[in-house]
Formats: sequence, C-alpha cells, structure tokens
Amino acid sequence: MKADIIVLGGGPGGYLAAERAAAAGKSVVLIEKRALGGTCLNEGCIPSKAMLNSAKLYQHAQNSKGFGVTADNVEIHQEQVIQRKNQVVGSLVAGVKAIMDANQVTVVSAMGYVEGRTSDGFMVRADDKTYIGEKLILACGSVPVIPGIPGLKEGIASGYVMTNAEALSRTNLPEKLVVIGGGVIGLEMASYYAMVGVEVTIVEMLDKIAGPTEAEISEILLRAYKRKGIKFKLGCKVTGVTGQGVLYEQKGSEKIAEADAVLCAIGRRAYTENMGLENLGLEMNRSAVVTDEHLRTNVEGVYAVGDVNGKIMLAHTAYREAEVAVNHILGIEDTMDYSRIPSVIYTDPEVAGVGETEESAAAKGMKVRSISVSMNYSGRYLAEVERGDGICKLIVNLEDNTVVGVHMIGSYASEIICGAEMMIASKKPLAELQKLVFPHPTVGEVIREALFM
Ligand code: NAI
Repeated sequence: MKADIIVLGGGPGGYLAAERAAAAGKSVVLIEKRALGGTCLNEGCIPSKAMLNSAKLYQHAQNSKGFGVTADNVEIHQEQVIQRKNQVVGSLVAGVKAIMDANQVTVVSAMGYVEGRTSDGFMVRADDKTYIGEKLILACGSVPVIPGIPGLKEGIASGYVMTNAEALSRTNLPEKLVVIGGGVIGLEMASYYAMVGVEVTIVEMLDKIAGPTEAEISEILLRAYKRKGIKFKLGCKVTGVTGQGVLYEQKGSEKIAEADAVLCAIGRRAYTENMGLENLGLEMNRSAVVTDEHLRTNVEGVYAVGDVNGKIMLAHTAYREAEVAVNHILGIEDTMDYSRIPSVIYTDPEVAGVGETEESAAAKGMKVRSISVSMNYSGRYLAEVERGDGICKLIVNLEDNTVVGVHMIGSYASEIICGAEMMIASKKPLAELQKLVFPHPTVGEVIREALFM
C-alpha cells in the first residue's frame, strides 16, 4: 500500500502528526504495535493522574477536620483505583482511534520495521505487508533506562522491581516501597503510594529532588513530601538491589533501604532498536534520532517527533513537534521553539514552571531580577489550603523589563502555567502586563501581585 506519509508510533507525537496531516488531505498510515496513545495514555501521564486523584480524595477524606468535615472508616481500594484508571485509559484510547477513523488514517496494529528506501519511497513492513510512504515520521517514543546496577535486571524479571508501567497497574499495595530516582516519575509515584499508606523511601543521587526544578521550589516540595512521611536518601547512589531492598552508598559506606517492592525511575531513553532504523543511515545521538528545528533528520523525507529525538520528553512537546514536522511537509512556515515549554510535576502540591530560572538565566549571562510571592496573597488559596507554603516566582529580564520565567508551587499551578507562558511569549514589559485583569478570587492572581513588586 502506498501513502503520502507513514507514521511509526501512535503516541501523542504520532497520532497528532497523523491527524494533522490527514486533515490537510494527505493519505496517512499509522503503525503502532500496542494500544494507541503511547506511554502518555497507557502508562504515563493519564493513568498516573487518575490514580493520584484517587489518592488525593482519600487523603482529603481523612484529613479535612480543619475544614469542618469528618468521615469514619475511610478506605482506599487499590483494585477499584486501578479499575477506574483502566476505564479512563480505555475511553481515551478509543477516542484517539475515533479521531484516526474520522480523518481516514489507516491504523495498522503491528510492529513496524523499516526495510529501506526505493525510488517510490520509504518501505515499512508491518503485519506481513509492505507500506510505502513518500515521507516517514518517526514517533517511536522512549523506554525506561535500566542501568547495569547489580540485581536490578533480575529484580525486574522477578517482579520485585517495577518501572512506571507496573507501578501504574499493581492491584496490591506493598508495605514498604523504595523509589530509585527523585525525578518526575519517582516523585509522582512516591506521592501516590505515600498518600495511600505505603511507607516510601526515595533514594536520589543528587542533593536535590526534581532535577532542573527551580531551587527554592524544589526545597518547598521536599518539605511537603517529608510532611507526608516520605523518607529521603539524598546524595546517595544506588549500588545494588537485593531481595531485601536497595543498597546505596552514603558518604563512602554502603547501606540498605529495606523494601517489599522497588520502583526504578532514573530516566527514559529514546526507543529505536529492532525496527530497521539502521537501514536509513540516520544520524543518532546514542539511542536518540538527531533532528533540526523543523524536526527533520539528516535523511531527506524522514522526521522524528516526540521522545524518540531525546530533546524534551514531554507529551506536549511531542504535540508541538508533530505540528511543526507536518507543517514542514505541507510547505507551511513553522519552527520549533524549545525555550518556552512548560513543565509540571503533578505532586500534591503541584509544581509548574516555564522559561528561565535564576540558575539558567545566570548561565546565559542574563541580568535578571527574581520576584517571589507567597501563594497566601491569593484569597482563594488561603481559603482552600491549610498551612500552605506555596510560592510564585517571576524572573524578570532587567534589560527590557520583560518576564522570562514563571515558577510556581501550589494548588492549580498546572492549570495556571499556560497563562504565564503566553505572558512570556508576548514579550510585553511589566507596565503593559500590569494592565491584565485576572479573575478574582483565583490562585492565579498571585502572578498579578508579583507583577507589581
Ligand atoms: P528524571 O530524569 O526526571 O529523574 C531521574 C532521577 O534519577 C534523577 O534525579 C537522577 O539524578 C536520579 N538517578 C539516576 N541514577 C541514579 C542512581 N543510580 N541512584 C539514585 N538516583 C539516580 O527521570 P524519570 O523520573 O524517570 O522520568 C522520565 C521522563 O518522563 C522524564 O523525561 C520526564 O520528563 C517524563 N515524565 C514527565 C512527567 C510530567 O511531565 N509530569 C511525568 C512522568 C514522566
């Protein structure tokens, strides 16, 4: 079968590329070996949000005495949590399939293998058929990094060690969980397990959690986690996994954090093996496919969007990259801008940020002013949150008085941050931004407060 475009991988990057290209009149074949929706829908963003909401409801039901609400015999049922999560995932996966059908995208449910290129186009074998595409969009996603730590691979094989996929489908709760890695996945999953009553310890190699997150916000998050009872072993490198727990090195001596189950969340890498990509002669950076600002690879006609290019492994980055790649194919001028991609950690409290931090601005030699405002300036925040210590931080470029970064920790931060992104994109000086009207009472009003400081 011949098509204008073959898309390899049906996650956010792949399915949006297929949808946009088909809506513009291109014939598209989308090849996906598992369920549509990729990591995001099946074992990442969406299932974790469904589960975290169950945990938050459980916690609120237990701890709302201060709000005048008490309840007896509050219980959480892990099987029911997982069942509901599966329903949410199922309906969204079906929704993606419906969008593909509505746009007449040919969906092939099989592993795709790139056989090479002929004068007709790129040949991809799937389900015993060869598909030929004039253009090829690689959207193959990523897989968890599993380093050669002694005992780790054996632990995964036996089920003692989980990755995000298993942690999001486990129907029984361990008593003690050790999380390797205090990054995004580690923190979101630790937050879930701690809120449902599991004893959680996070072992993190760095001295701070949440990697590139703004330093003051990372500190507030650490305090919030400690209040939830989560234990931390910071500055500790994991050296081994035994059936009893996780071995780690602390100031030169080896210690053990005991566990009934372990979650390994030390990063993800582009997934590019066993699918014939070597037949294309692509330029690679380790396992990632190298791309330019139009998401082109070094091979004309081949694009790579989403985690597979290893740039910023977030579903919303993949969406935008997919649009840029398709626009390039359609001859529409568009370029990828990675400088204003918002990041969110769906912990409780939520963390969200976009643009420069003090550290990143200093590294670029920018002269900036940092404005930090307590979330308690917001009447709604004060009314809804008990003993909240959330903040909103604005980074202002002193050269032109524009906002170049916004970083927040507190309720609704994930929902507020896209407004901040638009503010940065507008490149308007503070005096102009001060004229914006924010609805009252909202938590987002803290941004307006900060604009006047
Ligand atoms: P990550 O890169 O966010 O964090 C990994 C952490 O593991 C780092 O802090 C690192 O210092 C630590 N680490 C590495 N080796 C270690 C060792 N031997 N011992 C102890 N600590 C060690 O990776 P993570 O959490 O696995 O997430 C993977 C990807 O998924 C990220 O790119 C992230 O952006 C994406 N993701 C995004 C979410 C969101 O936007 N809300 C949610 C979940 C995942």
